Amino acid sequence: MRIFSGIQPTGRKHLGNYIGAIQQYVAGQDRGEAIYCIVDLHATTVPYDPAELRTGVYDLTATLLAAGLDPERSILFRQGDVQEHTELSWLLCSVTPLGELNRMHQFRDKSVTQRELVSAGLLFYPVLQAADVLAYRADEVPVGEDQREHLELMRDIARRFNARFGEGILKVPEHRIPEVGARIMDLQDPTRKMSTSGSTAEGTVYVLDEPGAIEKKLKRAVTDSANPPEIRRGPDKAGVSNLIDILAAARGTTPAEVEASMAGARGYGDLKAAAAEAVTELLAPVRERYQQLRADEEHLESVLEAGAGRARAIAAPTLADVRAAMGVGPNR
Ligand code: TRP
Repeated sequence: MRIFSGIQPTGRKHLGNYIGAIQQYVAGQDRGEAIYCIVDLHATTVPYDPAELRTGVYDLTATLLAAGLDPERSILFRQGDVQEHTELSWLLCSVTPLGELNRMHQFRDKSVTQRELVSAGLLFYPVLQAADVLAYRADEVPVGEDQREHLELMRDIARRFNARFGEGILKVPEHRIPEVGARIMDLQDPTRKMSTSGSTAEGTVYVLDEPGAIEKKLKRAVTDSANPPEIRRGPDKAGVSNLIDILAAARGTTPAEVEASMAGARGYGDLKAAAAEAVTELLAPVRERYQQLRADEEHLESVLEAGAGRARAIAAPTLADVRAAMGVGPNR
């Protein structure tokens, strides 16, 4: 079983990214052949700073390695290093309906809020994403609920390609949404997802936050005014539910187990303190390893380079098949 996922090298990674994506990546190493791609090319579809993009790739590489991604057991690489992605994205354009691209929610949202140039790259973002996965004939794509539309389009592109150019050339991948931590909410506004852009500074725990900052943010988390306080999940208890989910994910248990373990608690203070402790225990070692890893850019670059070589060895034969089926280039 081959797993593929892509992750943006922009923005500080937060607890929601850590639980919803990064931990899943690490776990993927035990479930199959795992391939993870740092998508620098996707990052060029919105206004960005070139120097920051490059350092962002190193920041993310160091974060992923610090979290336990093992470049011996999985393939970790930078998208821009493997030209098969860009070539395949162009070839896939021939079976991508323009109307579908226009309808994508992410494109619509970004193109209306963006005050600067809305680039064609933003519209074609999902085609490049399809190429990322299809180049590897991956079976499974672990990504959040917000990527559902992009995954459906990718599957549609693969099916259309096979129908037009030959059955079995591309693999139609499955979407896998992580059950745990798929929705870590903002600690100050638990009706909103913890996110890079849309959440509050005080309500967002960053992977690289110092223990003191983590504790402060969790201890100030919004709960509710139930009297007596009730430590249980429920649709009417967004803040408390979020803390229970966070604690469960940080401890590696289930929300039900957290509820049971909190049966003797005196109030929400106990829940917040337990969450602060568990999240600190989870992230403090990552932060320490990050600092060591981030200091050695040459090493990070050599990890990415080795990953790109291994990625290319898988993607190149797919491209050869796609080109041959499409009549592109000489007949070999
Ligand atoms: N669009 C994805 C996101 O924002 C990132 C991504 C790029 C991706 N290419 C991918 C995810 C391929 C999965 C597979 O999260």
